[in-house]
Amino acid sequence: MDQELWVGQKREVPLPVFLILQRYVRNCRFNGTPGTILHVGIAHTRWATHGGPTEANAHPHSGCRRQLQVVHNGIIENYATLKEKLQKAGHVFKSETDTEVLAHLFEEILADGTSLPQAVRKGLQQVRGTYGVLVMDPAAPQQLIAARHGSPLVVGVGDGEFIIASDISPIIEHTSKVVYLEDGEMATITPAGMQIVTIASHQPVQREHESVEWTVDDVERGGYAHYMLKEIFEQPAAVAAAQQGRSIPERGLAKLGGLELVAERLAKVQRVTIIACGTAYHAGLVGEYMLEEYAGIPTEVMVASEFRYRKPVLDEGTAVIAISQSGETADTIASIQEAKQKGCLVLGIVNVVGSTIARMTDAGVYLHVGPEIGVASTKAYTGMLTVLALMTVTLGRQRQMSLVTGNRIINELKALPAKIEQILTQRAAIAKLAERYQAYPNFLYLGRKYNFPSALEGALKLKEISYVHAEGYPSGELKHGPLAMIDANFPSVFFAPQDSVYEKSLSNLQELRARGGPVIAVATAGDEHIGKVANDVIWIPKTLEMLTPILAAVPLQLFAYEVALLRNCEVDKPRNLAKSVTVE
Ligand code: F6R
Repeated sequence: MDQELWVGQKREVPLPVFLILQRYVRNCRFNGTPGTILHVGIAHTRWATHGGPTEANAHPHSGCRRQLQVVHNGIIENYATLKEKLQKAGHVFKSETDTEVLAHLFEEILADGTSLPQAVRKGLQQVRGTYGVLVMDPAAPQQLIAARHGSPLVVGVGDGEFIIASDISPIIEHTSKVVYLEDGEMATITPAGMQIVTIASHQPVQREHESVEWTVDDVERGGYAHYMLKEIFEQPAAVAAAQQGRSIPERGLAKLGGLELVAERLAKVQRVTIIACGTAYHAGLVGEYMLEEYAGIPTEVMVASEFRYRKPVLDEGTAVIAISQSGETADTIASIQEAKQKGCLVLGIVNVVGSTIARMTDAGVYLHVGPEIGVASTKAYTGMLTVLALMTVTLGRQRQMSLVTGNRIINELKALPAKIEQILTQRAAIAKLAERYQAYPNFLYLGRKYNFPSALEGALKLKEISYVHAEGYPSGELKHGPLAMIDANFPSVFFAPQDSVYEKSLSNLQELRARGGPVIAVATAGDEHIGKVANDVIWIPKTLEMLTPILAAVPLQLFAYEVALLRNCEVDKPRNLAKSVTVE
């Protein structure tokens, strides 16, 4: 499969939010001859929406008559109305979940003598909300129903088996052939194979399988204690892969195959709006500085969960760029729908090939950083920044950027993997720093211009995996409030590379020190001055100012990782968080 092309032009995951496994062992073929089902099973990793994380609320959920088994990812918005109706009809509920409603609803329809696929289809027509759902009936164990609306669902087609999951990571150990269900589709899997129909009108859908390129090695820990650590150490390769074959240095050009079909529209774009969540949003903020400085395009970045409820002023001259590792983030998807309705060109920067965002955008660029399993995003972030730099070259060269500048950015990008390797050699020193600082209950992360987003990202990494309170702030805002918190018990991590705002950063750093606040500086190797002001320094090699956030990200990830280890936190699976946020 040519992954340089974006889905739609031609055709192209982390511990998933939930897994559903269903395997027909032997004798059963996709579009093949009938056989005998030997094993059918469903399982689910729940991320609580309705009802706490208790055993009663754990999936699968069953009804009260035929004991239908249901697992579900998403939110049933009208569950209260449905539940009331079903209770009036005599159904007895055992959990607080919205999912249980589905089991009773399907059972109620089955009571008319309707077949299971028909009952599920009719039941889903009454449902408002989002679902990736699997249904099993122990009374008819030769079939399994899968349906999707607004939550991802992918079917692995193996040798005599089908494996259904919310993303491809649990599947690739068994097969590289996958079929992505689209919204509003339902698949019935029996020994005779898989039939897909539309939920609304029962129209048959023909869909060929696609091949995935990720391998089992990609999703294993490979000797590392945690996926997060592995993914931090994969960044030299990831940043190299994200730019591999994507530039023509002597012409100062980026060559992004996924944008070629929209090149003319891109040349006319007057404004860019970037939408994303979490770490991807921080990448977008760096992209804003890059696009404005080097491509001269007014750019705005919005958190997707806000964008979807604002009345953003968008028109045909606006390109909307959605950034997402998983390609399945519910708020980002809703924002894309809004942007498409307003006639904007919608581009994606996505890691998971074939994901919903990749399929629904007009064009885009894959990260190619390989699967990211740890919940805390690391290599996807540096991959996003790499792709944003390449996009900046594309858009800049269509406008005022010179060949020399384009060439310089590309050459500096090429030098980054070796520079990240150099930072990784400081792991032991960073672990020592973590020991010294891990007991502090609060941290301030500060940075200016390109590294203001680094401050936000550094604080997020620490919060999410070590549960230590940290705030990211633009350092120029210090004296507008946060400085009041600073004393000897309140450390700061300060991004102060030797860039165009270095002098300003030094002044802010002095302000912290004057109040007794301990400071860890992230600074440019060879800076002889910074060690005199900061208590501790982590060094990053010199690079172009616009690319410093790529290097600055690595020590902040390592620092958060080491603090989390010392505090005995579950690094790869922080409490209350999921890798793909497929619910609003
Ligand atoms: C933080 C993190 C999250 C994600 C966010 C968006 O480390 O991983 O903040 O960045 O949930 O996810 P994607 O990129 O999949 O849209």
